[in-house]
Amino acid sequence: MATKDKLVIFDTTLRDGEQSPGASMTKDEKLRIAKVLEKMHVDVIEAGFAVSSQGDFEAVKAIANAVRDSRICSLSRAMIGDIERAAEALKGANAGRIHTFIATSPIHMKYKLQMEPHQVLEQAVGAVKMARDLIDDVEFSLEDASRSDFEFMCRITEAVIAAGAKTINFPDTVGYSDPLEYGSIIHRLLNTVPNADQAIFSVHCHNDLGLAVANSLSAVQNGARQVECTINGLGERAGNASLEEIVMAVRTRQDLFPVETGIDISHIVPVSRLVSSITGFPVQPNKAIVGANAFAHESGIHQDGILKFRETYEIMRAEDVGWLANKLSLGKLSGRAAFSARLDELGISFSSKADFNEAFIKFKELADKKREIFDEDLQALVSDVQMGAEDDALTLVDLEVLSKSGQLPHSKIIISYQNQEHSAEASGDGAVDAIFNAIEKLINSQTELQLYSVNAVTQGTDSQGEVTVRLKKDGRIINGQGAHTDILFASAKAYLNALTLMRNPGRLHPQLGGI
Ligand code: KIV
Ligand code: ZN
Repeated sequence: MATKDKLVIFDTTLRDGEQSPGASMTKDEKLRIAKVLEKMHVDVIEAGFAVSSQGDFEAVKAIANAVRDSRICSLSRAMIGDIERAAEALKGANAGRIHTFIATSPIHMKYKLQMEPHQVLEQAVGAVKMARDLIDDVEFSLEDASRSDFEFMCRITEAVIAAGAKTINFPDTVGYSDPLEYGSIIHRLLNTVPNADQAIFSVHCHNDLGLAVANSLSAVQNGARQVECTINGLGERAGNASLEEIVMAVRTRQDLFPVETGIDISHIVPVSRLVSSITGFPVQPNKAIVGANAFAHESGIHQDGILKFRETYEIMRAEDVGWLANKLSLGKLSGRAAFSARLDELGISFSSKADFNEAFIKFKELADKKREIFDEDLQALVSDVQMGAEDDALTLVDLEVLSKSGQLPHSKIIISYQNQEHSAEASGDGAVDAIFNAIEKLINSQTELQLYSVNAVTQGTDSQGEVTVRLKKDGRIINGQGAHTDILFASAKAYLNALTLMRNPGRLHPQLGGI
């Protein structure tokens, strides 16, 4: 039997995914996600855009130092400063990659870059050469490729391959293409660029028309051998192609795709939950593979068929993608060793012993309230401790809420900031409103509340409630999460976490003009 080509899975959850409004993640949160991506054998992890902020730089560096089995990549515009910063962040990587890009479509070159095509070509080649002087593995992207002139794409692709780029990426940046067109672009490029055989052709599709996965798969059928994608399809605007859908489509339809991925699919559902809980972006119930209903068969006809012969209605097995991996993790009697061992298995480590001790105390408190502790509970608990360890974190010390029929709910809150406690009380239209009003009396954040949502971390009425609060200020949007068995406590924590994150300086957006 002929061996199949390898399809390189390039995950950009931590870079393009983080560009979703509100989906910002802390360094420790990114590290936790990166470790699971490594465990599931993702080939390349785009850990961030190092030049965009000190926080992004630190995150890329920490991931480069901690992850050994996946290649770690930093995005960089085709500029000296960006490339040097990316190389600096990647110094500790076992295998690193600089991903440099410039826009090649007439509309982007004229209005955004205000550059002539020959200048863009020169800058692209210069950037690739400079990056190759600093690192062995360089990827080059032609931003807005799907709206670029074909002849120009061929010229620039040939030139950057000659300059040393090993992967060439053709993004459908604005999600404009369709499977027939996009597949044919990739096919023609592969057959026209003279040195095409010296590089891997890659695709990166956005989901503005709901076609990101279909476009990526069509490109694979036409010769692309790297797909850039994100967990849960997170990403700018309507998102990127979803990793789980690409991987499962290729695996389920081996008769249609001449490729194999090396992904360990048993991590798909756990990593989806982790990303959702860290970013506060819930997964819609009917989302393929990872939605709560993806394997639920409601109708009698389907259930009957499945009982008689499973394959009548099921093309994949829920347990293969990790649906049943939600095993009981720990209980009330578990000690420090069991707690520490389970955290290790989940790829979680703390930067200090004090943080570990705090997590263990919180675990014991939770185990007193909740009989069964699942992995999701541990993930939520760890988020809590890590958020509290952020510089200048606003943390909840105490909360009292009085809610009585016929009376306005009233809250008293004590928060800690830079080791000092501050208290306030306020009333509100509801209990949550009263809590947020009390916090605002202390902080006066001038933020606008854009979203308040509650999800259960696990099943049952003793589940922890996970609250997401989205705040907006001066054009920046930040999500904060908080989990607790009491959703009023979870709400206060989520609001304080969003305010803590809002204090961090903003990041530079990679696709702004002004190269
Ligand atoms: O969508 C896009 O074009 C990108 C590039 C920076 C690769 O994200
Ligand atoms: Zn993108």
